Amino acid sequence: MADMDLFDVMYHCRAMRKLDSKPVPEELLIKLIDAANQAPSGSNMQGGRWLVVRDPAVKQELATLNRQGVEAYIGPMKDNPGSLPHQDEDKRRRMMYSVLWQMEHMHEIPALVIACMDFGVKVDDNMAARGGGSIWPGIQNLLLAARALGLGAAPTTLALGNREAVAKTLNLPDTMSAFCLIPVGYPLGNFGPVTRKPTTEIMRFDRWS
Ligand SMILES: Cc1cc2nc3c(=O)[nH]c(=O)nc-3n(C[C@H](O)[C@H](O)[C@H](O)COP(=O)(O)O)c2cc1C
Repeated sequence: MADMDLFDVMYHCRAMRKLDSKPVPEELLIKLIDAANQAPSGSNMQGGRWLVVRDPAVKQELATLNRQGVEAYIGPMKDNPGSLPHQDEDKRRRMMYSVLWQMEHMHEIPALVIACMDFGVKVDDNMAARGGGSIWPGIQNLLLAARALGLGAAPTTLALGNREAVAKTLNLPDTMSAFCLIPVGYPLGNFGPVTRKPTTEIMRFDRWS
C-alpha cells in the first residue's frame, strides 16, 4: 500500500462500509488524525477536534443513533432503491445493502472517528449548518490516509441528525458540534476504483454556457 501514489489513492478511495471487528493499532489511529489535522481551515482557526470512539458503550449509543438515521433515510426506498443517471438500480441496491450492513455492525467496528468543530462560542443551528467548510478538508485527508494505509473508512452523517443526542452521548461542550462519523477498520470488501461523472460533464472553462 505504501507505494500507492496520491492519485492512485484518490481514485481508489471508495466508501468502505464492511469492516472487520479486529482492532486497529492505536498508532495508526493517531496517524489518521494527524493527517486530518494537516488540512486547511478558514483563517487558519484550526477548530477541528477529533474523537476516536472505541468504548463499546459509546459505540452502542452511536450505533443506535445511526440506526434511527438510516431507517428514516432508507425506509422509503427499501423495496425500490431507484436509479440515477450515473448509478443504475443494481449499484444503488448494493450501496443500500452496505449501508444496512454498516447499520447492523456499527457497534462492532473497532473505531468510530467523530469529526467535530470547536467554534469557541456556543454553537447555534446556523453555525452547525454552515461551519463544515473547515472540517471537511480534514475528513477527506483522513479518508485518503486510511486508504493509503490499507484501512477501510467511509464518511457518514446519518447518526448525527439529532445534535442534542450526539452532544449528550459524546459529552461535547456547547461550543462543539459533530459533523461526520467515520467508521474505521480493516476492510472486508475489496478496494476498487471510484465511479464518477466524466470531466466533460462537470467542468467548463471560463463561463458555464
Ligand atoms: C456529506 C456526506 C454524507 C454522507 N453520509 C453517509 C451516511 O450517513 N452513511 C453512509 O453509509 N454513507 C454516507 N456517505 C458516503 C456516500 O454515500 C459515498 O461517499 C458515495 O456514495 C460515494 O461512494 P464511493 O466513494 O464508494 O463511490 C456520505 C458522504 C458524504 C460526502
